[in-house]
Parts: sequence; C-alpha cells; structure tokens
Amino acid sequence: MLTRRDLLAGAAALGVAGMAWSGRALGETAFNLPLPIPELVDARRQGGAFSLVAAEGRHSFGPDRPEIATYGYSSPYLGPVIKLHSGDSVEVSVENRLSMSTTSHWHGLLVPSWADGGPHDPILPGAAWRPVLDIDQPEATAWYHAHAHNDTGRQVYMGLAGMMIIEDGTGERLGLPRTYGVDDLPLILQDRMFERNGELMFRTFPNERIMGMRGDTLVTNGVVGPYARVPAGLVRLRLLNAANARNFHLFFSDHRSFKVIASDGGYLPAPVPMAHLTIAPSERFEIVVDFSDGGEVLLETLEDHIEGEAGAQGMGRLTSTGPTGLPSNGPGAFLRFEVDPALPVASTRVPDTLVTLAAPDAGRAALRRTLALEMWPGLSGRVPGETSAGGRGSGPGMSINGKRFDMHRVDFTPALGSTEIWEVTGSHMPHPFHIHGALFRVLSIDGAPPPAHLAGYKDTALVHGPTELLIDFTQPATHHLPFMIHCHILDHEDGGMMGQYMTV
Ligand code: C2O
Ligand code: CU
Ligand code: CU
Repeated sequence: MLTRRDLLAGAAALGVAGMAWSGRALGETAFNLPLPIPELVDARRQGGAFSLVAAEGRHSFGPDRPEIATYGYSSPYLGPVIKLHSGDSVEVSVENRLSMSTTSHWHGLLVPSWADGGPHDPILPGAAWRPVLDIDQPEATAWYHAHAHNDTGRQVYMGLAGMMIIEDGTGERLGLPRTYGVDDLPLILQDRMFERNGELMFRTFPNERIMGMRGDTLVTNGVVGPYARVPAGLVRLRLLNAANARNFHLFFSDHRSFKVIASDGGYLPAPVPMAHLTIAPSERFEIVVDFSDGGEVLLETLEDHIEGEAGAQGMGRLTSTGPTGLPSNGPGAFLRFEVDPALPVASTRVPDTLVTLAAPDAGRAALRRTLALEMWPGLSGRVPGETSAGGRGSGPGMSINGKRFDMHRVDFTPALGSTEIWEVTGSHMPHPFHIHGALFRVLSIDGAPPPAHLAGYKDTALVHGPTELLIDFTQPATHHLPFMIHCHILDHEDGGMMGQYMTV
C-alpha cells in the first residue's frame, strides 16, 4: 500500500517542487488564434479509400511558441478527420516514415482484429500497412492513434492521433448540425508539458508512470488558446479526450447547459441536458450547444483531482510541474467561442428522441468475469525498460488480475457472437478501461445504474469501484492477432495494465 510518506519521500527524491496548488490565471492565454480545423478526408469521395503517412514534423502550438519536433499523420501534428460511411468497404494505406516501428489503431471501429491495428501489427520504418475496413456500425465519432508495443504513450503524446466520423444518415435525418468546420466542430482535447526550450516534454519517471503523463498546458486541435467563430444557433461539438492520462471536467464559463447527444458508440436515445461533463482519456461525447444568445464563452476544465484511495493519500496532488512551475493537473480553458451573426444557422432544435436503444438485457450474458486493474504503486516499481527494481517494486506493476501484459498470452476467450458481463474494478484511482473490437453498455457503477449520458453504447468506461459492463463480442480475433483490453491512461497501458482476448 502506498502511503503518504512514500509519496512525499518519492516526490522529494524526484525534486518535485511546487506541490502546493498555485492555480492558473485564464488571463495568461489570449484565445485569439483561430481554431485549426483538421482537413476532412471523406473516404467515400475517394472511391472508398484513404491513406495516412506517419512521420516526424515541425509544429508550433501557438503564435509565440517555437516550431518543435512532433509526429503526425499526413500533417506535422495530429492527422486529418476521416469520414467513413457505414456499409462501405474502405481500402487503407498507412505508411511509416518514422525512424521507429508504429501502428495505427482504429479506436471505436468494429472491425476484425486483423484490421484493428493493435501492437501485433507493427508497421516497420519505411513499410506500409494496408488493411481493408468493412464499416458496419451506427453513426459515431471514433478516432485513430498509434498503439506501438511499449511506446504508445510517447507516440500519441508526440502527435499520432486523429478523429474519425462514421455516418449512416441518422444525423441528417434528425436535422442535427452537420456542416463540418462551421456548426459541426471536431475538438481534440489534450494536455501537454513543454521543456524550457519549447520542445515537448515526455517523461517516464515513476510519478508519470503512476499518474500518467500530464501537462500544464491545455491544447485544442494542436494549439494553445484558440477561439472558434460559431453561428448564432445550435453547434455540435465532437469532443475527444486524446490526452495520455488526464480526465477533463468540462463546463462553459457562463455555466450554460448543453445537450449530450452521443457517446463513444453513437447516439443516446434522447439528448441529456448537462452543465458539467467528465470525459476520460479516449472517450468521445458529442454535445449540442445553443449559441443563439450571442454571448462569448470559454470551454473550461476543472482540476483533475484524483478521488478515493489515491486522493486520500495525497496522490491526487502529486502532479508534476514543468518549467512553468504550474501543476500538470490544474484547471484551465481550452478555447473561446465567439458568435458570428454572419454565419448561417442551419439547426435550431434538437429532437426529443434520437434513436431507439433497447434497455441492456443482462439476461443475454453467457458468462460473468471479474477484472481488477491494478497498479503496484511503489515509486521505485519496475517499469518496462528499467533494469533495476530498486527497493520496493517486486510486485507485478501495472497489471490486470495480477498479470502484466504479455504479447504471447491470451487472457480471455469469449465466444464470437456472445455477450458477457465483465465486472471491472480499478485500484487506487479511476482508470479509463477500454476494450478493442467491441461495444458495451454500462449496467452499473458501484451498484447503481449509470447516469443517462453513460447509458448508451461505449468502448471506454472510467472505472474505479466495481463497474459492470455488458459486452457484445461481434468481431473475430485470433490467437496470433488478439484484441487488446487496457487502461487508456497510456502510461499505465505501456506499463502493463493491458490484456488480450481472442474470440472462439
Ligand atoms: Cu485507443 Cu488500445 O486503444
Ligand atoms: Cu481501441
Ligand atoms: Cu490506469
């Protein structure tokens, strides 16, 4: 058990200064840089194909910031937004021009394991990977990112991520805002830490292994402090938490409410009015915001204070500080919205019902499994690539059911086409539990039914206390190319909080 003394001792040893909360003045950021909108690549318009090139780039995160070394997919940092149509078969090419092996995982796509892009499908430097994606799932916002064995956290941090939009005509039928870049905006939310010389700072110190790599600077679509011009009507925001570790607790500066219309796997049955929305790493929510009042607002996040056991032990405050001296976990604003009355208002109301979703039927479950997401919290615990275990740290480290990730071990074998209940628990802090190749419904969180915005189809759930998931295994996975299940705190994943399943 990690004690407060261990943490303080560890913090002192690491030279972590400025443990006291210093807050952050929003006034430091001007929010006067136009929000970059990633290029939209519609695979259907390209004859059912798209290609990406993973490469190093030079990118500036803002006007007063230097051009620094980054990675991106067909762009210096991040990648295009890929639009896919359900029913299409799409030929993909991902070329690796990096100097190390990478992969490209389609997070949220329901495709067989051999098209999934997990760590078993490395693309060697100079090589290309050409899967075919048969798109067959409801309209949703998904994403893609690097998933290289032991190097996912760093590669995503450097910029290897992008959004995907799957369409099946539902949004059009419902009259939802859908003019890309005007009233339908992709918002890729991240936090980053920068070195004194302006380069990205990525650390694998024990503190970052435990808390995950967090940053003192909030980044939206690859820049710090942008603003978006929006019409004086309804605007749909596709929110993606593409941070390595931090949960964002989103709200608007004037505390206006908004409607959550979709989660990871697609539309909710009805819009859910909310004013505060927590989004964990790799989760997506689509929200509709009414800007008809013409006011100016910021999209902000609260501090990601870690609750529970870890928080009680002071771990929630054991955030890093970078050269700025600001904590890596603090509150701040992502972007500013400014209403432009000249922009066309296409949508003025959100329908009261969106799609029909049957209540989850736990009776269909063929099997129940229990998964414990565990972390060996010794600050000197072994992490991959380190040879000396130091004092403590003889335990399994990051693990699931006591087992650290092993590429050659298949942990679970659900039957193809079956449904199972997995009861997942996370130790010490909330963990965003993600499953490849499947969607689930949350049955319960700590014994209670989930709130409405978490009751739709999902592929990631922020898990601390026992959380029951009803999972549909619809995609085939083989022994040689199994699907991953893992914590989406990427530093936990790289540390071994990951397992594999094949379907039988
Ligand atoms: Cu975003 Cu293994 O996934
Ligand atoms: Cu995934
Ligand atoms: Cu975790």
